[in-house]
Amino acid sequence: MTENEPKKRMSGGKPETAKRERQTKPIDMNNATRMMTHKVKTARGRKISSKLWIERQINDPYVKEAKIKGYRSRAAFKLLELNTKFELIKKDALVVDLGCAPGGWVQIALKLGADRVVGIDLLPVEPIGSADMIEMDFMNKNAPKVLREKLKRKPDIVLSDLAANTTGHRQTDHLKTVALVESAADFAMEILKPGGSFVTKVFQGGAEEKLLAMLKKSFKTVKHAKPKSSRAGSPEMYLVAKGYRHNN
Ligand SMILES: C[S@@+](CC[C@H](N)C(=O)[O-])C[C@H]1O[C@@H](n2cnc3c(N)ncnc32)[C@H](O)[C@@H]1O
Repeated sequence: MTENEPKKRMSGGKPETAKRERQTKPIDMNNATRMMTHKVKTARGRKISSKLWIERQINDPYVKEAKIKGYRSRAAFKLLELNTKFELIKKDALVVDLGCAPGGWVQIALKLGADRVVGIDLLPVEPIGSADMIEMDFMNKNAPKVLREKLKRKPDIVLSDLAANTTGHRQTDHLKTVALVESAADFAMEILKPGGSFVTKVFQGGAEEKLLAMLKKSFKTVKHAKPKSSRAGSPEMYLVAKGYRHNN
């Protein structure tokens, strides 16, 4: 699991209507981290990993900034950064968001002018504006059909921030992640409109070679990116494929 680890914390942010955005300078990670290092005492029964997670959350400037801006996850900043670099979400776009809970990317896609967002997640997501949320396993064989029915037309962009719950067994976790990325890519290539884009989280140094080769054949450009807001110690990065070549 990544930054929104505790499944109980579904929508940490303020309600959409109450959200009032503050004009803030870009976050200076080094300075912010220096200024806010808090330690959490290990309570009896609390696992060390849980203590470390709480400590990291408290000391993370992006978590703090997400709260101020009313974003439901710090992941929101990753999509903002990727969008600044790659100009992904155009006005009136139809967006698919795979692994959308708790909804940070949905908020950003709408804020950037998307006409409609259709998201899917194992977890329920509290409503966000006009977005359609499907509570379902994306790996279920019926998921593509359910998504297609909601979309009604070919989307401009498929986003995937899917991250499997980790088991602690490295090889199992790796295989689970690879399966999610491959399914997201298959779905994107089946549904995108010509010229469309696909963004996916990948782990451990980037996409698998076979997948990368396939994407390079099917899209005009394919690039890896590690947004600043993605934790330096995390093996995650993103793959951004633009200019879908239809009928390849
Ligand atoms: C890193 S979080 C996504 C954060 C989101 N982009 C945001 O901005 O709030 C990854 C999500 O993938 C979801 N997920 C993992 N496996 C899934 C699956 N098989 N089907 C649907 N969702 C899945 C998890 O439930 C989790 O909510």
